[in-house]
This record gives sequence, structure tokens and C-alpha cells, in this order.
Amino acid sequence: MKRVKLTAILFLALALAAAGLALAQEDNLIINSQALGEHTRPLVKFSHAKHSEKIADCTTCHHDFSPTGNRGSSEGQFCSDCHSAQPTAKNSVSLVMAFHKQCKECHRFAAGKGQPSGPVMCGGCHVAGAPTAKK
Ligand code: HEC
Ligand code: HEC
Ligand code: HEC
Ligand code: HEC
Repeated sequence: MKRVKLTAILFLALALAAAGLALAQEDNLIINSQALGEHTRPLVKFSHAKHSEKIADCTTCHHDFSPTGNRGSSEGQFCSDCHSAQPTAKNSVSLVMAFHKQCKECHRFAAGKGQPSGPVMCGGCHVAGAPTAKK
């Protein structure tokens, strides 16, 4: 009896922890990497809600790559934790390249299949009138 109760409590704790993780990402955010310094283009809005699990797994975007190429997870990290303003020996993909490649390649791919997609032109993401200054 005691054992059953303990198991139930453990299960509840795990479920709550998982729910907490799932809630950790905001629906809408403004991407503003401090590593890029003063931005020259209007800041880019990104909606997790519209990029739902139907479109991609968390780890498609929040990946890590082992030397053998296997994709791991980097949920909870910023892209700038691994991609720096300039390419490095450890990571050849600069931060701006990382964003542009990830965002635009998928939008092109979806559009190519005639499916709903996102912008590929500069002004579609860097929308005129959005703030540019670091906050
Ligand atoms: C289509 C790509 C994409 C998908 C899919 C995605 N994310 Fe994100 N997420 C981003 C980007 C881009 C940022 C901003 C990263 C940065 O500023 O360096 C971000 C930021 C975050 C952050 C930190 C910022 C915040 O306050 O929300 C968390 C936590 C997060 N994502 C969790 C998740 C989880 C959990 C999932 C799966 C349910 C997920 N993401 C799916 C692209 C994605
Ligand atoms: C934990 C570290 C880590 C984080 C965080 C991370 N990446 Fe990466 N990413 C890598 C590594 C490692 C590579 C491979 C680099 C190489 O080939 O030199 C890579 C490669 C890439 C590539 C090129 C390969 C491909 O899939 O097209 C893109 C684009 C990219 N990352 C975008 C992003 C974006 C956007 C984010 C944030 C949402 C992000 N990365 C977060 C480690 C990371
Ligand atoms: C794995 C594929 C994928 C990736 C990666 C991706 N997108 Fe999208 N994006 C989509 C799809 C599919 C839609 C269309 C969603 C719909 O209309 O249902 C979309 C829609 C959008 C839209 C229009 C809807 C809105 O939110 O106003 C914007 C803006 C956008 N994406 C920005 C971005 C940015 C910025 C990034 C990179 C940080 C990004 N996307 C990465 C697939 C992707
Ligand atoms: C699919 C969305 C998308 C499109 C299309 C796009 N960008 Fe970006 N761009 C981003 C994201 C996301 C960042 C990263 C912003 C950050 O991390 O603060 C970025 C960063 C930048 C930066 C560095 C930050 C700054 O403001 O100085 C420049 C410059 C830039 N983009 C120029 C362009 C130009 C020029 C085009 C058209 C050829 C373009 N972008 C198209 C999403 C996009």
C-alpha cells in the first residue's frame, strides 16, 4: 500500500515537471540576440504557437549536433549559446547564418510543397516599424 502511494506521488511529480517544461516557452517572442550588438534591421517576431509541433519537433530548432552528426536537444538555451557572431572552429555557422538558414530553408521547403509557409523576403521578418534598438 505504502509502495503504491509512493509510486503515485512520484508519477505526479514527474507529470508536473513535464508540464512545467512544456509551459516554459512563450507563445510569442521577439528575437533579440545581445551577441549581435546594435541591430540594423527591425527586430523579428517569432510565434511558438504558430510553429507548433505539427510543423517541427522542439529539437529540430533547439538542436545540438554531436561530431557524428546526431541531433540532440538544446531546449532552454539560446541559439547564441552555441552560434557566435563570427564562425568558430567549433561551430562554423555564425549566429545570423543560423537564424537565416533555419527560418528561410523551412519556409522555402513548405512553400515549395504548396503548404502554408512563412516569409523569405527581408521585410516579411524584419517588419518595418518594429523596434531596432537593444532592450
Ligand atoms: C521553428 C523553430 C522552433 C520550434 C519548433 C520551437 N522553438 Fe523554441 N525557440 C525558437 C527560437 C528561434 C527561439 C529564440 C531563441 C533565441 O533567442 O536565441 C526560441 C526560444 C525558446 C525558449 C526560450 C525563450 C522563451 O522565453 O520562450 C524556450 C524555453 C523554447 N524556445 C522552448 C521550446 C519548446 C519546449 C518547443 C517545443 C514544444 C519549442 N521551443 C519549439 C524556435 C523554435
Ligand atoms: C547546444 C548548441 C546549439 C544550440 C543551442 C543551437 N545550435 Fe545550431 N548547431 C549547433 C552545431 C554544433 C551545429 C553544427 C555546426 C557545424 O557544422 O560546424 C549547428 C548547426 C546549425 C545549422 C546548420 C545545419 C542545419 O541544420 O541547417 C543551423 C541552420 C543552425 N544550427 C541554427 C540554429 C538555431 C536557429 C538555433 C536556435 C533556435 C540553434 N541553431 C541552436 C549547435 C547548436
Ligand atoms: C521547420 C519549419 C520552420 C522553421 C524552422 C521556421 N518556420 Fe516560420 N513558418 C513555418 C510554417 C509552416 C509557417 C506557416 C504557419 C501557418 O500559417 O500555419 C510559418 C510561418 C511563419 C510566419 C508567419 C506567421 C506569423 O507568425 O506571423 C513568420 C513571421 C515566421 N514563420 C517566422 C519564422 C522565423 C523568424 C523563424 C526562425 C527563427 C521561422 N519562422 C522558422 C515553418 C517554419
Ligand atoms: C524568415 C525570417 C527572416 C528573413 C526572411 C530575413 N531575416 Fe534577417 N534575421 C532574422 C532573424 C531571426 C535574425 C536574428 C535576430 C537576432 O538574433 O536578434 C536576423 C538577423 C539579421 C541581421 C543581424 C541583426 C541586425 O539587425 O543587424 C541582419 C543584418 C539581417 N537579419 C538582414 C536581413 C536581410 C538583408 C534579409 C533579406 C535578404 C533578411 N535579414 C531576411 C530573420 C529573418
